[in-house]
Amino acid sequence: MDKQNDQSRMDKIVSLAKRRGFIFQSSEIYGGLNGFWDYGPLGVSLKRNVKDAWWRDMVAGHDELATLAGAPSPYEMTGLDCTIIMHPQVWKCSGHFDLFHDWMIDCRESKRRYRYDHLHGRWASHRGKKVFVTTDQSGDEAVPDTVAKAQKFFGLRAKQVDEIEWGGGLESLQQAIAAGVASLADTLGPDAAAPGSLTEPREFNLMFETRIGALAGDDDDRAFLRPETAQGIFVNFKNVLDTSRVSVPFGIAQVGKSFRNEITPRNFTFRSREFEQMEIEFFCKPADSAQWYRYWRDRRWKWYLDLGLTEGKLQLREHAQDELSHYSVGTADIEYAFPFLNPGEFGELEGIAHRGDFDLRSHMEGKLVRKDGELVVETGPDGKPRHRGSGKDLSYFDDVTRERYVPHVIEPSAGADRGTLAFLCDAYHEDEVPDADGKPRSRTVMKFHPRLAPVKAAILPLVKKDGMPEVAIDLYRALKPHMACQYDEKGAVGRRYARQDEAGTPWCLTIDGQTLTDKTVTLRDRDSLVQSRVPIAEVVDLLRDKLA
Ligand code: GAP
Repeated sequence: MDKQNDQSRMDKIVSLAKRRGFIFQSSEIYGGLNGFWDYGPLGVSLKRNVKDAWWRDMVAGHDELATLAGAPSPYEMTGLDCTIIMHPQVWKCSGHFDLFHDWMIDCRESKRRYRYDHLHGRWASHRGKKVFVTTDQSGDEAVPDTVAKAQKFFGLRAKQVDEIEWGGGLESLQQAIAAGVASLADTLGPDAAAPGSLTEPREFNLMFETRIGALAGDDDDRAFLRPETAQGIFVNFKNVLDTSRVSVPFGIAQVGKSFRNEITPRNFTFRSREFEQMEIEFFCKPADSAQWYRYWRDRRWKWYLDLGLTEGKLQLREHAQDELSHYSVGTADIEYAFPFLNPGEFGELEGIAHRGDFDLRSHMEGKLVRKDGELVVETGPDGKPRHRGSGKDLSYFDDVTRERYVPHVIEPSAGADRGTLAFLCDAYHEDEVPDADGKPRSRTVMKFHPRLAPVKAAILPLVKKDGMPEVAIDLYRALKPHMACQYDEKGAVGRRYARQDEAGTPWCLTIDGQTLTDKTVTLRDRDSLVQSRVPIAEVVDLLRDKLA
């Protein structure tokens, strides 16, 4: 599929998401708030189903007695629900206070702000005039964008565009400036008319800051909204160990909101400023950690496939050595080919990281840095720890082997909103179905996995008379305690099917004249469109089996 088709597909998905109540812009009646999204009636169920499937498959339904395929041994899973605002020292020791930033650059002319690493440019000259033209577009759109900007800057007509001389291909502005190939004075900002309007790049910490207490004012009251749920798990490691009889290896899971003051939120919910994460911190013996890392990477990959994401649109990408965080021994990303990306590009759904003992040691000893290949406490000019740890012992004593060690951590960290967006994009299909007269009618259908579908079944009396609604209401009441279902008697049955197809409802149950004589209903399958007759008495068990 070419870029234009894919972009129009994305536009259709965004429009369906709004029209059918999956996702709305936050505070829309006031013009919206960039980077914040609300989930509507169908969206809230879809996202809840994603989170519930994750919790059930990873935690509640986990068989602690079995050795699962690829796992070195059986293991336990438990959970936590921690606060969004935590002690500020947590972020100092974790490294977020010092390191969790992006470089941004402002344009004095257009008043727009960009992520420095998102800007690319190239030299353009025309009749002795030279400028380094930049763009904030990526992929296929970047080069044409620089051409259009250079044309405007030099005041050329379309047919004169070929007169522009280009000094090479697009390169990162950051690298061009670092290498002395360009300077800010010669640089034409992406939305500027004249060069030299971009400010020096500045660091921008992505953590949202707040103040605690009514008399807030001095630095001691400063607090942060968590940028990840993981730290709540690390600082509670000892509490969980002391209160739940778990033993290594075990995992602690958490689902909850995280906040990042992203400089350029974009691509619908993909990069938001408020979002939900589903994170596991898995604690294991250092010697087994490489095997556990592989286990979790493969297990999480399979989870997305089992819930129906198209395999060809998924990619498992191991990070190269120079991409790894300073504490990471290995990281893999599970990525999805979102339709807003260029062909061949993928966006991260989840990262699986081998974090060694970095986190537990940071919260014991203080903020760590890597020196000569070793993690050591970072010290200030006075030789004291730059950020002091809790001083609490977060090591683990193994009763069986009589060993004491700091467990290593494997962290599968998924985004609930990104996952939901991938399931939404993947489910979107357009096809043709026969109408009441057998003529082909185009339809939009959301082919969600039944476990994720916001509504599992719709109960439709063919007409609003002859006792059909009464039978349908009885069936609705029998089914409702077991699954989300809807009763709909409004409009022609074809239109009702179309409504349910757009909502992604896997099954429609139609009560018709035959129902009244033989107590069977029509079961219509959303994807195959096969219609079969099923005894009413068997409907509940049949659909429950299909969902199991
Ligand atoms: N504890 C590790 C951690 O937070 P991360 O790669 O920064 O790692 C994990 O985030 C996941 O959280 C990402 O793979 C993504 O799914 C989601 N995520 C991160 N930033 C996001 C944002 N601005 N908007 C939506 N989801 C985001």
